Amino acid sequence: MSESRIHNFGAGPAVLPLSVVEEVQAALPNLNNSGFGLCEISHRSPTFQAVVDSAMERIRRVLSVPEDYTILFLQGGASTQFYMTALNLMQPGERADFLETGGWSKKAVVEAKRIGGVSVIWSDSENGFRSVPSAGEYAVSEDSLYVHYTSNNTLMGTQYHDLPDSGGKPRVLDASSDIAGVPLDVSAHDLIYAGAQKNLGPSGVTLVILSPWAMARAQENSDAGRLPTMLDYTVHASKGSLFNTPNTFGIFVLDCVFKWLEENGGLDGSIARNRAKAALLYGELDRTDFWAPHAQVEARSVMNVTWRCADESLESVFLAESAAAGLGGLKGHRSVGGIRASLYNGCPIESVEALVAFMREFAERHS
Ligand SMILES: Cc1ncc(COP(=O)(O)O)c(C=O)c1O
Repeated sequence: MSESRIHNFGAGPAVLPLSVVEEVQAALPNLNNSGFGLCEISHRSPTFQAVVDSAMERIRRVLSVPEDYTILFLQGGASTQFYMTALNLMQPGERADFLETGGWSKKAVVEAKRIGGVSVIWSDSENGFRSVPSAGEYAVSEDSLYVHYTSNNTLMGTQYHDLPDSGGKPRVLDASSDIAGVPLDVSAHDLIYAGAQKNLGPSGVTLVILSPWAMARAQENSDAGRLPTMLDYTVHASKGSLFNTPNTFGIFVLDCVFKWLEENGGLDGSIARNRAKAALLYGELDRTDFWAPHAQVEARSVMNVTWRCADESLESVFLAESAAAGLGGLKGHRSVGGIRASLYNGCPIESVEALVAFMREFAERHS
């Protein structure tokens, strides 16, 4: 199986560690010696409850989630969280601030506007979303309830490298494309959400982490009858993420990925590996002016690296030839164009080495 796997640079669903894929393969016919297959077992069974408990405990350990924070496994993707966060946190007449750093944060703004007031206090849309704000480049509104930001901009290849100032207000974070891949101070946030399909597992399960403040806000909205049952954090929390049938497969894979992280140096190990991969690729992009990286240097993402060929007519040739050479998923998102390599947790450094070797050879041939 492993010999025919390509070097996968897709932006999500994305490559998983091979050992995780093999563990999942083994669980499909018989989960943890229960006799039940992974996709055939009740979410109410003790065997599956043990998987949920294990995944939550590992997440708490790896990400240093404070004891009084709630961890949820939900469905509907990060896209549902754009709406659900605002719905649960805001009350009538309230408003929130948003830092707009790319296509996904724009979508978060659109959905939050359905619930309350929204101020976009910083946006880089006129500059093609090449950067993220530094301290002092925006002012948090006095009357905002919280500040929402997107730590890594999957489409544009930009990323915060410092915690954004929230003027003392709660931070709400979309960490879909860099969770467990970069430093993260969970305790500095009141709500974090992330679709699993990049750094954590398959699509169809969304990790949500809530502070006591966020849970209290949700409780007030719930008590006031403002929350549809399935969009109510308190309902899911009261049932340990088993209110309705969850994505059992996805939760199992999540547990395997966090086990793999724990066995490979935890969050620090993951940070070091991701930095090394990114340094290798950016080094090649900076070595010659054959390539034109998209993001401003100080905002470069270690998870999604975006670039163009200086001669853009060569991009389709690059994509076709790289695919033929076993390097997959490199087409850039249409909002930036060009090329994008996603270097999530599951992407081994050998894949980046293969990509860089191919790029060198390609640049020589076409210079
Ligand atoms: C930063 C970010 N936010 C949100 C989303 C949307 O996630 P989902 O497809 O799980 O709704 C994505 C997906 O790529 C993303 O990268």
